[in-house]
Amino acid sequence: MSLTFDGRVVLVTGAGGGLGREYALAFGERGAAVIVNDLGGDIKGGGKSSAAADRVVEEIKAKGGKAVANYDSVEDGEKLIQTALDAFGRIDIVINNAGILRDRSFGRTSDLDWDLIHRVHLRGSFLVTRAAWNHMKNQKFGRIIMTSSAAGIYGNFGQANYSAAKLGALGLSNTLAIEGQKYNIHCNTIAPTAGSRLTQTVMPPDLLESLKAEYVAPLVLWLCHEDCQENGSLFEVGAGWIGKLRWERSLGRIVRQKNLSMTPEAVRDTWNEICDFTDAGKPSSIQESLQTLVDVLSRVDTEDGIKANPTSAAVRINPSDAVGRSLSEMSFTYTHMNTILYALGVGMSTKEPDHLKFLFEGHENFSCLPTFGVIPAQGSMMGLGSVPGLDIDFTRLLHGEQYLELFKPLPTSGTLTSKTTVADVLDKGSGMIILLDVHTYSGQELVCYNQFSVFIVGAGGFGGKRTSERAVATAPPPNRPPDAVTVDQTSKDQAALYRLSGDWNPLHIDPSFAAMGGFKSPILHGLCSFGFATRHVLKQYADNDVSRFKSIKVRFVKPVYPGQSLQTEMWKEGNRIHIQCKVKETGGVVLSGAYIDLHAGSSVSRGPPEKEELQSDLVFAEIERRIKDVGGELVKKVNAVFGWEITKDGETVRRWTMDLKSGRGDLHRGAYKGKTDVTFTVPDEIFMEVVKGKLNPQKAFFAGKLKVRGNIMLSQKLETILKDYAKL
Ligand code: NAI
Repeated sequence: MSLTFDGRVVLVTGAGGGLGREYALAFGERGAAVIVNDLGGDIKGGGKSSAAADRVVEEIKAKGGKAVANYDSVEDGEKLIQTALDAFGRIDIVINNAGILRDRSFGRTSDLDWDLIHRVHLRGSFLVTRAAWNHMKNQKFGRIIMTSSAAGIYGNFGQANYSAAKLGALGLSNTLAIEGQKYNIHCNTIAPTAGSRLTQTVMPPDLLESLKAEYVAPLVLWLCHEDCQENGSLFEVGAGWIGKLRWERSLGRIVRQKNLSMTPEAVRDTWNEICDFTDAGKPSSIQESLQTLVDVLSRVDTEDGIKANPTSAAVRINPSDAVGRSLSEMSFTYTHMNTILYALGVGMSTKEPDHLKFLFEGHENFSCLPTFGVIPAQGSMMGLGSVPGLDIDFTRLLHGEQYLELFKPLPTSGTLTSKTTVADVLDKGSGMIILLDVHTYSGQELVCYNQFSVFIVGAGGFGGKRTSERAVATAPPPNRPPDAVTVDQTSKDQAALYRLSGDWNPLHIDPSFAAMGGFKSPILHGLCSFGFATRHVLKQYADNDVSRFKSIKVRFVKPVYPGQSLQTEMWKEGNRIHIQCKVKETGGVVLSGAYIDLHAGSSVSRGPPEKEELQSDLVFAEIERRIKDVGGELVKKVNAVFGWEITKDGETVRRWTMDLKSGRGDLHRGAYKGKTDVTFTVPDEIFMEVVKGKLNPQKAFFAGKLKVRGNIMLSQKLETILKDYAKL
């Protein structure tokens, strides 16, 4: 629906030319009754004429609009509003636009240069707006525009008087926005750029011509429409572009210590941190500003820790006490339920046929996603609370970076134990980084290694080192467009689902908790995006073969809201896949400096390291010898390939292939390169019990101790072989 202003009465000051004229014409065209104010003087504030305003009134009327002229100076604010009341009985919208220039370098600025500029721009805006205020209040509607300038926001040589007045208009607007809010009076400020007589001395003619005033008017109209709820904001506008501005404030730094006087030396010594915009805040109200000071007072004066205070932090944070400390061991028992729930949590879906092997425990290649490796280790972060030499405020904890390396594919079920040590503690000024190394074992065997990089906001400044050789580094992607891109939409319930894998932080589910953290709604877990990105890479470059995964490193940059789409950009450099993950809708980078290292080679399973001797090894060696003895006879009789997976503690530790299909028959270690006719999965000790005749193979099968995939009838033949030929 188009925006109209029927029944609204608008005053545009300085509407005889330039931007003001354009606003007046636009409002007139869309149904508003317009008061076209212009003093009709020269650009320096001299002279007076009715011609300029009259011309614009005629233009509006010629197009069928309603308009009256007013020739008073904005310094006679009441008269301008009276014209509106006399002609149309009300005033709804005031555009403070009138302006002059008296540019001088600062040293040469006279009292008159200063005063005239302030009288027209700032005092004029005040007087006109005050005259309209009570009418707006009574009718519970008002829209006001203040006109500022880039010269005010940023400063400009030769415009000290003008800059001061223009930023004064912003200050005026900020308070009117607060006072007017409850009466539905909104006040916003624009800093326009357009070719006009004011800019003709500072801009080349062709630029003057192309920066049309009609590119500014649409913003003014929208801000003044009753549908627009914007209030107290500042916009830069010109050339057809509009941008909004706001304040940014560094986290800052407490430089005062309890019972000690505050010194300029302390300011000097903490200057870099005072000015460091990492994790900067964006305060939008005086309440927020005051709250910071109240927080500072309580932090300096109470016993309860001054995270950003140098001496106090130094007392509480003592890296040499903390580094090398072990946290208590964690044990994690899981079944296929957990691995499937995790796969769903990172966006796996039966909609994709190749996801089934991660979602169905009966699938012949049922696998656990490599990034599940963070799950048994994630509790380590909570263990930080008990480490001497560290003082952790968990509400200020951010997960900064993550490294995960697998030494073998993760079992789909089992019990894993994790050992955590504090690898290093770093002082980043604005915060502290704690590196946690977590080694996760299945029995005695190392399964995976995680390095958590945890950032504690505001806990820096204890005089620690800034970098660590123990930290696994991020790496930027190559400087070329990505080789592959995968886009995947997260579901509205993605975080609700992911948290069931054991990250119970209410930030990811509770709207009020998320609001306290400054988020508009609960956010997705960083490790969930991490899981998405990894499976994108596995699919793109490793045919979903989990045994190809070696390691991943990521830095968490920005939050993702459930429902947004994740876009994983990938660059292949040998066996390293660089990745960058973005929110597709916003383009915001979520994971940066990230990469996944793959194991080289074919997608045929590599099998785990084979250090340990198994009892079954000897048996297979014996079978191998006898197959060689018997020669081709078995091949004729059996004509099948058998695969063996010998397990220990629930995971495959050895693979054998018994090829009784080709040549003279063969038995060798390792997986078969094609498809076996039947594959047996059996624990080493059960295999031995069967071989020794202590356990009947059928019984073992029905008890779930021996698993068979493929043509189950062939197992009969195998029994015969083992009995007749192997004499076992
Ligand atoms: P302009 O000179 O074309 O228009 C200003 C109008 O205000 C003139 O018609 C003038 O007669 C009138 N005026 C001056 N003193 C007055 C008074 N005391 N009472 C009533 N009317 C008076 O200039 P332009 O460029 O259209 O500027 C409009 C506003 O935008 C000004 O406030 C200016 O400072 C501001 N601005 C303009 C920029 C630009 O690039 N054109 C850049 C930044 C700010």
